[in-house]
Amino acid sequence: MISIVGGGRVGTSIAFLCVSNALDDVLLLDHTKDKVIGESLDIANAIPPTSKFSIHGTDDYSKLSGSDIVVIATSTGVYIKNRMENMSSQVIMIKEIARKIKQYCPSAIVLLISNPLDILTYFFQRESELSRFKVIGVASSLDSSRFRYCISEKLSIPQSSISNALVLGEHGDSLVPVFSGVSVNGKSLLSMIDGDEKDSMTSSVRNYWKKLRSYKSRSHFGIAKNAYDVINAIINSKELAIPASVVLEGEYGEKDVAMGVPIKITSKGIIEIKDRKLDESEQELFKISAQSIRNSIQSI
Ligand code: 2OP
Repeated sequence: MISIVGGGRVGTSIAFLCVSNALDDVLLLDHTKDKVIGESLDIANAIPPTSKFSIHGTDDYSKLSGSDIVVIATSTGVYIKNRMENMSSQVIMIKEIARKIKQYCPSAIVLLISNPLDILTYFFQRESELSRFKVIGVASSLDSSRFRYCISEKLSIPQSSISNALVLGEHGDSLVPVFSGVSVNGKSLLSMIDGDEKDSMTSSVRNYWKKLRSYKSRSHFGIAKNAYDVINAIINSKELAIPASVVLEGEYGEKDVAMGVPIKITSKGIIEIKDRKLDESEQELFKISAQSIRNSIQSI
């Protein structure tokens, strides 16, 4: 069973993808019971006739019992200028959810979606005491999709000609686009752009969500697809290599922090944290990103 905590736009978009692709039974959980019952009745009409799975809405945490995967996409309020705005209340919320998951489904694999993503991934893992290989903060793959899109728009080329557009680090202002590995039709991206273009792309990726929000209230389709891909890999035992936020214990020289690094996922959760070669300036930015997240963690 896939349980989704948070019946807002992100949670329901993920539920819709899981249900319409007949992945597994879905439980949609939110403190606003009427809303999740309504959303579930709506999404239930997307169940393919050949599917043996269903969806139900609830406000009862004990129903998490038996979950194989729990997705956390809930929030205590809207942030306007920065994902860190509601950090204190979000951390209190995530600790409460961590205790519920520890109580009702301690062997589940948990996907974090809520912001500030890396900080919540860290506190969730510490509070729940789940293995760090079963706690996945999904966001760097979304940032990588945005990086690929920005390159494609800037160079007026299709996304299919771009390889290895990867973003690591914080899901926030210090995220690190890894330019050194990107190729366009087999040619190094760095040989095609100058320093100003590189800075402008970095800024576009970092501020993508703000631009999006100046046109619509919230992003949800992109993150829903990225989360769905992870759920699909876990449920159908497919190997998936993506960047995601994980609690680090020495990898990349970092500890006491969670941040986006390249990982490999299967039905068991994270099976590998990959060692990705970064150039000197990327290593420097990665360190700054780690320190920035760690400072926020230590400020709690
Ligand atoms: C996003 O990047 C706001 O974290 C959300 O779209």
